[in-house]
Amino acid sequence: MTTTTPDLSENAINALVSQGLAAFTNAVNLAELKAARIAHSGDKSALAVANRAIAELPGAERKAAGQLIGSARTRLNQAFTAREAELSEVELALKLASEGVDVTLPVALAPHGEPHPITALMEDLGDVFIAMGWEIAEGPELEAEWMNFDALNMGPHHPARATSDTLFIDPIENHLVMRTHTSPVQIRTMLSRPLPIYVVCPGTTYRADEFDATHVPVFHQLEGLVVDKGITLGHLKGTLDHLAKVMFGGVRTRIRPSYFPFTEPSAEIDLECFVCRGDSVGNPDTFCRTCGSEGWIEWGGCGIVNPRVLTACGIDTAVYSGFAFGMGVERTLMFRNGASDMRDMVEGDIRFSRALIGGAR
Ligand code: PHE
Repeated sequence: MTTTTPDLSENAINALVSQGLAAFTNAVNLAELKAARIAHSGDKSALAVANRAIAELPGAERKAAGQLIGSARTRLNQAFTAREAELSEVELALKLASEGVDVTLPVALAPHGEPHPITALMEDLGDVFIAMGWEIAEGPELEAEWMNFDALNMGPHHPARATSDTLFIDPIENHLVMRTHTSPVQIRTMLSRPLPIYVVCPGTTYRADEFDATHVPVFHQLEGLVVDKGITLGHLKGTLDHLAKVMFGGVRTRIRPSYFPFTEPSAEIDLECFVCRGDSVGNPDTFCRTCGSEGWIEWGGCGIVNPRVLTACGIDTAVYSGFAFGMGVERTLMFRNGASDMRDMVEGDIRFSRALIGGAR
């Protein structure tokens, strides 16, 4: 409440307008402008006080005073609206500038996972065969003992059936094992697919083995099986040579006589030592720890499918023959990527995956 009577002269009112206009002009943002409006034309402003005082004037003076103050308020309102538009534009421009994104700036990428090197390698191995028109076959990891052994011509007294190698599942009368190799998928494939057969089976396998740099109890194999008319050892060697070429570049392969109950003849497939390339053989000064100066390292087993196995699956051995091979995926990863300790493959450290495949993807 003002105690003094406000000055309603034209000069006084114009002075109030000038102060208001100056305050609006000086406001540099909308908040300041709003404060200036409250101060100069709000309910408690000098102008509002003057307006209320009109009622106390003698009747004859009221009209002129009303017009004077009315036009003063109009001028202030117009100036306010104009300044408000200006400042809104300025503020919008500032906001847009501050929210602008330079898409050309380098950014720190959030860390992301990698496929496990074994998974990635199994896919790569599968792709080599898909490209040749083969199919991928799969089978259960918990397998019937008959599929894992008997059907593969491994009689009940075969050493691989001893509990030291095989993980048997309780109760033993159910004759279930964790498959010790991917070869039972050969049997499942021959029993379920039409001839001819061209399949690979990448899968997990189990043995009651040590856990050390070169053994893990849960490991992976890639099995291959072909059954067609006129299949020979030459087809087997050609296929493995192709696989070795894709996986290891110019490394040579050899097959060396061996024994598996389900192939006849059987062989081991060896790779030329990727470290010494055979140069250490017979040279005591340059012993090669990778191949023991043999010049070759064992990659897997293979052979011509034993006719007894084909017969057990109802395939006419007078018309059809086949070859099969199986190799360790962990060993393949060791040879291919220089991973020296298999334990790294099961520990799940992302740095291992990154080092092996991260950069390649
Ligand atoms: N299953 C054999 C093993 O685990 C490998 C093999 C597969 C050998 C196919 C011959 C043919 O050792």
